[in-house]
Amino acid sequence: MKKIYLSSPHMSDEGFEMQYIKEAFDTNWIAPLGANVDGFEKEMAALIDVRAAASLISGTSALHMALKAAGVDKGDIVFCQSLTFSGSANPIIYQNATPVFIDSDYETWNMNPDLLEEAFKKYPGAKAVIAVHLYGLAADMDRIAGICRKHNAVLIEDAAESLGTKYSRKLRHKV
Ligand SMILES: Cc1ncc(COP(=O)(O)O)c(C=O)c1O
Repeated sequence: MKKIYLSSPHMSDEGFEMQYIKEAFDTNWIAPLGANVDGFEKEMAALIDVRAAASLISGTSALHMALKAAGVDKGDIVFCQSLTFSGSANPIIYQNATPVFIDSDYETWNMNPDLLEEAFKKYPGAKAVIAVHLYGLAADMDRIAGICRKHNAVLIEDAAESLGTKYSRKLRHKV
């Protein structure tokens, strides 16, 4: 049986990656951006059916940007699921905000919506929620999104591990 490793990169058997690296050097498109990044963003946006996609240097920086866009700042409370990679929570600290961790759901392994609802009782002014789709398993987005709407909190999806994951028949890879 072919193993799929959790975090080591998968390279194509055809060697496409080396070909593109060589092409980038040959055409001197090393910095700032070039046809490959533009093409990647276009294809990604089409794949996940969104108006636009932006490439960042890492998942952590994408989440950091999302928090800034959500207006999360010093002293704000941000709910984040507890079972995840540290990169889901680190950007909360970069914004000098306070992470409050929400435990997992038995079914999805991701944020438990009942516990999220409980947490809003304790911290009604929480500014944002970071839900993660861990190991390719989608979080219970219908319920989580409903709770966020009710409490006027910005919902950020950490989809670093969910390229190709579907929820309600829709692809789920937005950050
Ligand atoms: C769930 C999750 N969130 C965030 C990140 C952070 O991504 P990066 O290491 O690219 O900053 C990772 C990385 O593996 C991740 O698995």
